Amino acid sequence: MKKLYELVKAESLNWDAHENMPMFQCWNFHALPVIKNAVKFAKERGADAQVVEVAALFHEYGGYVDKCKHYKDHHIVGGERAEPILLAHGYSQDFVDKVKQCIFSHRASVICPKLTVEEICVSDADAVAHIENVFQMIMWMGQRGDSVEAANEFIKRKITKSYAKLSPQAKDYAKEKYEAILKILY
Ligand SMILES: [Fe+2]
Ligand SMILES: [Fe+2]
Repeated sequence: MKKLYELVKAESLNWDAHENMPMFQCWNFHALPVIKNAVKFAKERGADAQVVEVAALFHEYGGYVDKCKHYKDHHIVGGERAEPILLAHGYSQDFVDKVKQCIFSHRASVICPKLTVEEICVSDADAVAHIENVFQMIMWMGQRGDSVEAANEFIKRKITKSYAKLSPQAKDYAKEKYEAILKILY
């Protein structure tokens, strides 16, 4: 597992550089919070914590590697790119298929009606991380060179979508912060 963390972390640093962010910004303020919450949710909900941890680790991998090229499809590309790596590290095809399904379902804009408990843990953790680390996202917009108007629009859309896709229990957990964020946006 340590090698997998190193591999994904290295790619996240390339993404930081691509987006004009200081090193480790994405890793510390998105990747790690998603992994931490996903594992916490998995334990609370009786999900397979190993599937959830590996999926959370790789959930943005497609974006890190391909940068903006596959931005809209990074949830699909990420799973496809993770598959041979995980197989080479000795994980079974069945395990890898479950991980891929979680990576595929993590997108805020993709609301699937029937998800496994593992998929919900990763999707909830991703959305909660957006809400809990909104300051990082606002910084990112600035670092990319976006205007105040564009950043405000982006953040509002992202946060609203993220909250909308949360499971009822995760909505309870994030409600207060979500409403506070909407109050400070234009
Ligand atoms: Fe994503
Ligand atoms: Fe994410």
